[in-house]
Amino acid sequence: MGLLLEVRDLHLYYRTIKGVVQAVDGVDLRLEEGKVVGLVGESGCGKSSTANAIMKLLPKNTARYDGEILFDGVNIIDLDDEIFRREYRWKRIAMVFQGAMNSLNPVIKVGDQVAEPLILKEGYTRAEAEARVKELFRMLNLPESFVNRYPHELSGGMKQRVVIAMAMVLEPQLLILDEPTSALDVSVQAQIMNLLKKLKELKRMSMIFITHDIALASDLSDYMAIMYAGKIVEFGTIEEVLLDPKHPYSQGLIAATPVLSRDVPPKFLPGNPPSLINPPKGCRFKDRCKYRMDVCDNEPNSIKLSDSRYVKCFLYH
Ligand SMILES: Nc1ncnc2c1ncn2[C@@H]1O[C@H](COP(=O)(O)OP(=O)(O)OP(=O)(O)O)[C@@H](O)[C@H]1O
Ligand SMILES: [Mg+2]
Repeated sequence: MGLLLEVRDLHLYYRTIKGVVQAVDGVDLRLEEGKVVGLVGESGCGKSSTANAIMKLLPKNTARYDGEILFDGVNIIDLDDEIFRREYRWKRIAMVFQGAMNSLNPVIKVGDQVAEPLILKEGYTRAEAEARVKELFRMLNLPESFVNRYPHELSGGMKQRVVIAMAMVLEPQLLILDEPTSALDVSVQAQIMNLLKKLKELKRMSMIFITHDIALASDLSDYMAIMYAGKIVEFGTIEEVLLDPKHPYSQGLIAATPVLSRDVPPKFLPGNPPSLINPPKGCRFKDRCKYRMDVCDNEPNSIKLSDSRYVKCFLYH
């Protein structure tokens, strides 16, 4: 199985009046074709920023953007913006943005919104595009006739399927899903998760699934990346990370997840993540960590624990 994406030492900082926000600070990730990585962490830890960095969608106040994003062997960070826009964004790498279902255009039929890139980018005729969109709707368990509906005529789960259709319409190799089910009730959430599992099998699409919910991530993912305050502190297969978490933050996150089958109450992680403006030197988790040592004032390196796994913590140095 070929490696599709390899992110090395990725940085994305933002300039603000209070100082520079180190939102993505030396992130490493790797993903093979047809596999899913769950990117998990608390609110504000830099998950969406990591996704935007891979899509090369940078706000005006970007203060630093560097590292390597090797997509199919090509470092897309160095790629000319125009080439990236034409050949990569949406065509090979697509994203369902956080809250996207609430930003559908209210005055355009959803079928036309999904069809737009086919007509504008791929030269489809209106009829060809409509046929393709209907086919996509069928695959996403949406009735074909819904192409003629306006967003307000759809339920939340249906709108979420429409935004997934928009991201998938050009058949990207990598689909980034940023909290695709957070605004949905649990039964609709389960339907969307089943749909994503079906797509993974049917289309062999690689996915980055972003969530703050570790249990949800484990349902779909092959790998898990645990992010804390701008850094990925642990990466490994789902089994490695869930069954034997190594980083104290991963251990805390997993212990905080309720398990119905066991009679142990969830333990909540005390404290809050640090500000990403002037974050503490060294390990960013140290102020919440029960294993804190003097050495934690230094930056922990990535320690390789297996072929698929690394952790950034002095307990393993
Ligand atoms: N355009 C921006 N300008 C300045 N700061 C930003 C910008 N976008 C994000 N941030 C800050 O960067 C940090 C990371 O934000 P990001 O949205 O990537 O986190 P997240 O993990 O996706 O959070 P959530 O789970 O709440 O969606 C936060 O401190 C956020 O306030
Ligand atoms: Mg986010």
